[in-house]
Order: sequence, then C-alpha cells, then structure tokens
Amino acid sequence: MASEPAPISFARGAPSLDIIDVEGLRAAADAAFAADPAGTFSYGTSIGYRPLRAWIAEKHGVAPENVIVTNGSMQADAFLFEALVEPDDVVVVERPTYDRTLLSLRSRGGDLRPVALQPDGVDVTGIEALIADGVKPRLAHLIPNFQNPAGYTLSLEKRKALVELAKANGFLIFEDDPYVELRFTGETLPTMLSLASDDQVVYASSFSKTVCPGIRVGYLVGPEKLIARIAKLATNTYISPNMVAQSIVNEFCRNGSYARSIETVKVALKERAEALGEALAAQLPEARFVAPEGGYFLWVEMPDGFDADALFKAAAERGVAIVKGTDFLIEGGENAFRLAYSGVGVEQIREGVARLADAAKSLPVG
Ligand SMILES: Cc1ncc(COP(=O)(O)O)c(C=O)c1O
Repeated sequence: MASEPAPISFARGAPSLDIIDVEGLRAAADAAFAADPAGTFSYGTSIGYRPLRAWIAEKHGVAPENVIVTNGSMQADAFLFEALVEPDDVVVVERPTYDRTLLSLRSRGGDLRPVALQPDGVDVTGIEALIADGVKPRLAHLIPNFQNPAGYTLSLEKRKALVELAKANGFLIFEDDPYVELRFTGETLPTMLSLASDDQVVYASSFSKTVCPGIRVGYLVGPEKLIARIAKLATNTYISPNMVAQSIVNEFCRNGSYARSIETVKVALKERAEALGEALAAQLPEARFVAPEGGYFLWVEMPDGFDADALFKAAAERGVAIVKGTDFLIEGGENAFRLAYSGVGVEQIREGVARLADAAKSLPVG
C-alpha cells in the first residue's frame, strides 16, 4: 500500500515551533516568578498585569489608563464589540476580512457593510459612498498591516484619510493590528492611533504572532472612558486575565527577548514568503497575488470560474490544507484561497505548492 503523503498545512495563522523562543520563555518565567511572585500568582485586576500594561502604554505613547491587557486580542475584540455594537449598528468591514471577526460581529447582530480591500488597503471611496447614501457607521474594523487574509497593507495616505473621515462622520476606527511588528521589507507606517488627534481610534494588538499564540496575551488601547467600561465587563467575565502569562510576557519584553524573537520570526517569514511566491510563479502561473511585505499570509486569486472549493478538496486528498476564500467574505471569493506561510518551512512550502498545482490540474476545466 502506498503511504500517505506527510500533511502540509497552509491553513493555520500560527508560527511553527522552531521560531518560538522556548528557552527565552522558560528563562522569562523563572525571572518573573522570582521577581514578583505576589503579582504573578494572585488574581490581579481586570486591566491586566500592571507592569506589562505600563510597558504597552509607553510603547504607544499613551497613559496606562488607556490600556487593558486581555487573554489574546480575540478577547479584547469580544469585549469591544460587547461594549459598542448593538443589534443593527452599522459596522464597516474589509472584503475579505478575518473570519472570526465576521462571526463575532454577526453574533452581536451588527449590520455589516463590506467594503472592497485593495492592495493598498480598504477602498476609502467605498466608505465615503456608503456615508453619502445616508449610512451612519458606528465602527470600522480595519486590519492595517499584512491583512488577514490578504496580506495587504494600508497606505499612509489612506490611514490619514480614514482618520479624517472618522472624525468628520463620528465613527470609531477599530485598528486590529496583530502583525505590525512583522514587516520584513519596506518602511513601517504610523498607526492610525498615532495619527488621530481625538478619540477616533481603538487599537488592538497581540503577542500571539511575535511571542507565541499559546501564551494568550493581547491588548486594547483606547479612550479612557471606553477602557474603563471594558474593564467592568472584564471583571464580570473573569475577574482578571491570566496574570502568570502576562507576567512572563512582561519579563520577556523588558529583558530584550521580545526584540530578538521578532527578528527570528521576521527572518523566517521573509524566507518563507519568498519561497512561496517563487513556487507559485513556477508551478501555478495562473495564480494572481501581491507579494506581502510582512506578516503571515498570501491571498491567491485564480481566474474567474475557478472553483477553490474543489481545489480545497483535491488538495486535502494530497495532504495539503488551505483556507477557501469564501470563509473570509459574506459573499464571493469562490475563486480565491488563503495561504499561511507562518507554520511551514521552505522545503514544505515547495512540496506543498507542487501538490497544490497537481490538485489544480486534476480539476475539470471551466
Ligand atoms: C486580524 C486578527 N485579529 C485578531 C486575531 C486574534 O489574535 P489573538 O491570538 O491575539 O487572539 C488574529 C489571529 O489570527 C487576527 O488575524
């Protein structure tokens, strides 16, 4: 009997174990437990472990009162939506966007208005057109850097225009930015949070993509009153987030391991993204994509009429996992799919794309 090919997953937006600083985390845990056992092992408060909150506040040039540290940024998103989104509130989302955000906003009964994502970020004129039609957004959810799923980055021009638009029309921008540190080419752009003069932006980020996802530490930066409201929701939900994890991350950030970890991850991601781009160009020439400047993802569009659902199944038979484009849109995306290169080495990428090309060849034409 022929043996099954080893599975290769382009599906999970998670780092492979070889780029996680396990020894650094062990050392950070030792140091954190010795330095502050009382703070580390007690319940703490819902705003998070105070030294880490202070570190994050300093990084973003805000007061600690503007920051709450949560169990991953998914938890921050959930609190934010609970605080702000009532049934039928209009929420602008990118098309395509992160599937879990769509699910979360839908479960709140939000009136979702998808606006096209372009290679330089969301189509600002699309949001302007909605407003001109009398739509009054409450919130715009935007993933500015190396977007999930597309890998695209919002230009500086558009960042400025969006902040102005939010100010003029009284809506809040939710800047969901877990990939910001993972730029491997080009210049880092300022956050919309830093460009805003008033309270137009709530910002979320995470240590999942730079340290490791299992640590479950993320955070929200925003207007003090909103953060205070969210802190109350957090108290009622879990008293406090995981202090042990936050204390370890605090030590990891302050002793220099964080900066080193980011470098390790970026070097690997650059190599993987390049290998993926080259393999696609060579093996699946009809695939259209924009080479990412950072982050975890590459979005592939195939010619119109291509059935990415059939590819998903044919790829699975060859031991390759991808995510269908339709998972990231309310409508459309049938000819698209997302490839995550964060969890696979260069050799696996080459082998995975060869199998994907073979799967594509096996599909009926048209
Ligand atoms: C855009 C975006 N927001 C939020 C998250 C959730 O991250 P966390 O692990 O911090 O909950 C992800 C994870 O894939 C993401 O891609």
